[in-house]
Amino acid sequence: MDDLRRCDPQVHRAVAHETERQLAHLEMIASENFVSPAVREATGSVFTHKYAEGLPGRRYYGGCEHADQVEELARTRATTLFAADHANVQPHSGAQANMAGYFAFLSPGDRILGMNLSHGGHLTHGSPVNFSGRYFDVTSYGVSESDGRLDYDAIRDAALRTRPKVIVAGASAYPRIIDFAAFGEIAREAGAALLVDMAHVAGLVAGGHHPTPVPHADVVTTTTHKTLRGPRGGLVLCRQEHAAAIDKMVFPCIQGGPLVHVIAAKAVALGEALSPGFAEYGRRVVENARVLADVLLERGVRLVSGGTDTHLVLVDFVGGDLTGKQAEEALGRAGIAVNKNTVPGETRSPFVTSGLRIGTPAVTTRGMGPGEMRRIGGWIADVVEDVENEDLAARVRREVEELCRGFPLYRPDSPPGGPDLAEA
Ligand SMILES: Cc1ncc(COP(=O)(O)O)c(C=O)c1O
Repeated sequence: MDDLRRCDPQVHRAVAHETERQLAHLEMIASENFVSPAVREATGSVFTHKYAEGLPGRRYYGGCEHADQVEELARTRATTLFAADHANVQPHSGAQANMAGYFAFLSPGDRILGMNLSHGGHLTHGSPVNFSGRYFDVTSYGVSESDGRLDYDAIRDAALRTRPKVIVAGASAYPRIIDFAAFGEIAREAGAALLVDMAHVAGLVAGGHHPTPVPHADVVTTTTHKTLRGPRGGLVLCRQEHAAAIDKMVFPCIQGGPLVHVIAAKAVALGEALSPGFAEYGRRVVENARVLADVLLERGVRLVSGGTDTHLVLVDFVGGDLTGKQAEEALGRAGIAVNKNTVPGETRSPFVTSGLRIGTPAVTTRGMGPGEMRRIGGWIADVVEDVENEDLAARVRREVEELCRGFPLYRPDSPPGGPDLAEA
């Protein structure tokens, strides 16, 4: 940071303030996490200078021998971790991974069946404001009104009725296990390819805490920065028969040169995910989410599907006066970062919403456990019950800051910003 301080004090100040924010807040946005110092070091490495269009051993540029090495490590670790035939580790993000997956199977105008955004799906699963909704003819499925869970019979009916070329499974805001085997059967019956976007649960799949989609899907996409705890980015796994099509869609169809520094960091993160400690991390993420759900339910807070099997809970304000926006802002003032989220039965705009998504991956990386989740659940319930009470928000914020001081993100001898993974 000394060079940055000297050369660009304005950016340095923003980085320093963001570091302070991350240290003093409870990070409970379900899609965020803290990477290890080793992942951060690889992300900031000299590989940021390198152009390496193509694939290991088949590049369009010279001087790629070390880039080849890190990309090969990342590919091998990804296929080992998820028991997949083939991996492409170049997608710059989850959206690019999905785009490559779609383009390998679809032409503009073809039909897809994906999960409704307000029921927990992602924008790239067919939203009209996203390329997926603009390029393809989209039918959506959702959760059942009675229990907030995916209704596989209704999904089968929709698939047989609409005959999509690709069925998309996976979600951004669904707190329950997704039955990927059932999706595989439905896709086979409907003659569709199955694309599973496991971005949210990839780390849980890696640790054995969520069933794997790999044997059931033609293509599996993921981000690398959520429960998987790597750098921001994406990757695609697929059966060998689709390997060439996927590789060609990532480059040259939708991307240019890969971000080799990020690929190096993906290799490090995938190596960490292969270590025995990572399964224990995943177990604790899920345990923490369950404890949080129990506390909120005890306090009368309604949750979509009545609880969780994963790393997140989805608070449901449908039918009440309180909005997701008000709750998000009040919790923000109290030092707890969460995000407003649309929920099943949504009547409000995506900028207001009737729900809140709360996740445990980042606080678990910090080393927090069930005791801390009980305190945090109590604070969330207090604030949500009384969103206008500034004194309450200030008091909770002081308690949050005190709690955070007990769970530093890094050891005194490690560079600022990386989690002390030894304690997590
Ligand atoms: C299920 C799912 N897929 C894809 C994405 C897109 O990832 P990115 O933001 O890296 O493009 C997200 C991001 O939140 C997601 O939740």
